[in-house]
Amino acid sequence: MIVGVPREVFPGERRVALVPEGVRRLTASKISAWVEGGAGQAAGFSDDEYLRAGARLESSAQRLLEQTDLLVKIRPPTILEVEQLRRGATLVCLLYPRNHADATRRLADRRVTTLALENLPRTTIAQSMDVLSSQSTAAGYRAVIVAANVIAKFFPMLMTPAGTFAPVRVLVLGAGVAGLQAIATARRLGALVEAFDVRRDVRGQVESLGATYIEPGLEQASETAEGYASQLTESSLERARNAIRLPLANADVCITTALVPQQRAPILITRAMIENMRPGAVLVDLAAEQGGNCELTKPGEDIVCRGVTIIGRLNLAAEVAQDASRMFSRNMENFLGHLLRDGILRLDFRDEITRRCVVTHDGAIVGEELRQALAALKGEG
Ligand code: NAI
Repeated sequence: MIVGVPREVFPGERRVALVPEGVRRLTASKISAWVEGGAGQAAGFSDDEYLRAGARLESSAQRLLEQTDLLVKIRPPTILEVEQLRRGATLVCLLYPRNHADATRRLADRRVTTLALENLPRTTIAQSMDVLSSQSTAAGYRAVIVAANVIAKFFPMLMTPAGTFAPVRVLVLGAGVAGLQAIATARRLGALVEAFDVRRDVRGQVESLGATYIEPGLEQASETAEGYASQLTESSLERARNAIRLPLANADVCITTALVPQQRAPILITRAMIENMRPGAVLVDLAAEQGGNCELTKPGEDIVCRGVTIIGRLNLAAEVAQDASRMFSRNMENFLGHLLRDGILRLDFRDEITRRCVVTHDGAIVGEELRQALAALKGEG
């Protein structure tokens, strides 16, 4: 079995799906790892390290894709990558088939078995494979570091002969994996932190990190059976905005992470609320990829509005590429460990993890993904 690790070609993507340490463990269990030259370079892993870990280096992406039995990637494949991938191979990556309907259809046409990591169930057994959590952890951490870099203030309280400086006030919207890591990081830097989430269950987690929980003041339950937030009605959203209006006006830094699966991110911050913020304040919108939690966010850009910097940068996890890759790689190893028996891929569709993740198999798009991919293709046509 040859596991292939290509260089990610998506602009700005610096992570790599398998780090040398992961290669070392895989090759110890009789799996060959072929790594494209330079695959780990942007994340700080040299070709030499991969060689020492037992990988075979391949300078041509095309040759790598043609030889690979199991390709591990971070980003969805490009059409060219799909066309070059060996027929009947297996691909494990973040796929988002609804946004990559054409690639998904072609993967099925080439009889590639594709497993989409974003579909992993949020269960205890799948936790060690959960790339969404690990990459959200990296992004939540990075969001605070980015804000600390931009703001012209000290984060912690400083008492110096030149004066006493109050700690910065940080407001975190959305206390899921990224939000909780943002809270923890801001607290470690000495900030005063408040956090808001429509799921009341997070109160204990927020408080255990030393932050203050802001009551959402909503009447109806806003949580699905799977533990995710549900979409709010416009009137509930208005209540949510009212709950954060004052804390936002007093904040130096706001980190927004509020997401509802399969939906545009809820708009929690309006233009008027930005205009009410302190000049020099910084907002990092981690929901930018899903449209943003602030109505002024420009995905992929940093802008300034009335002295408030709004950071809509995408892929903050790639800004801590080395450790984010280490986490992704460990998740990947655990996932492969779950799927492979004696170095051979054995798909057991009775297993929830396998069933949820398989998107293409045996020349077809399978299950729930079929319906969604067909709907997306109709939309494209
Ligand atoms: P997410 O990325 O989907 O959303 C981020 C946060 O935004 C969530 O906490 C959500 O409640 C919040 N949110 C949504 N709409 C909002 C609004 N209008 N106003 C304020 N906040 C809003 O969430 P993530 O980080 O993926 O976590 C989702 C759930 O999955 C959580 O319950 C988490 O604890 C759970 N989880 C469980 C795992 C496991 O057991 N293996 C692993 C990771 C997460």
